Amino acid sequence: MQDDLRMLADEIRACTACPLHRSARQAVPGEGSAESGIFFLGEAPGYNEDLQGRPFVGAAGQLLDELLSDIGLDRSKVFITNVVRHRPPENRDPLPDEVTACDVWLHRHLAVLKPRVIVTLGRHAMAKFLPGESISRIHGRPRKVDGLVIFPVYHPAAALHQPALRGALAGDFAALALLLATERVPQQKAEQKTADQMTLFGN
Ligand code: URA
Repeated sequence: MQDDLRMLADEIRACTACPLHRSARQAVPGEGSAESGIFFLGEAPGYNEDLQGRPFVGAAGQLLDELLSDIGLDRSKVFITNVVRHRPPENRDPLPDEVTACDVWLHRHLAVLKPRVIVTLGRHAMAKFLPGESISRIHGRPRKVDGLVIFPVYHPAAALHQPALRGALAGDFAALALLLATERVPQQKAEQKTADQMTLFGN
């Protein structure tokens, strides 16, 4: 699997499917492993990520590392990537065409990693699976979408800008830890529709 991930990263580094590759220093393909079965999807590389070619290595990444460590996880045990793999100029929001151009890499990563849970960080990542939803309404609860378990949380950068969200984010990670502890194979268990399952999946 690590070989597949390496080859995929090389393909992403060579991607010219949208104009972002022209303004960015380099692509940020994503990194980590499938050991914990958790796949984190952020928005887009920022200044530090663009410099280093690695996801979540700036201030938001430091908070993500702390949130992971609080639930007994290390970033090397999870996979972390973004909705777009090149930095948008001035850290602007990714444009719809840029997101669409990058979709292929999300699908390829999911096909290789087959994660138990996809944690979407912020509204852009959430919108990939739950378009039209509001993050303030649905954060911290798992949802099943096309056989995938999606766990939406606030973006760590949002919690840095709005300290009031920090507690909510910590609560979401605690709920994630509970989900991981109680769900062995979510796809199979969800179909059993036990009372616990209904509570866990909230729908
Ligand atoms: N914010 C993101 O969404 N992704 C990163 O990689 C870094 C900051």
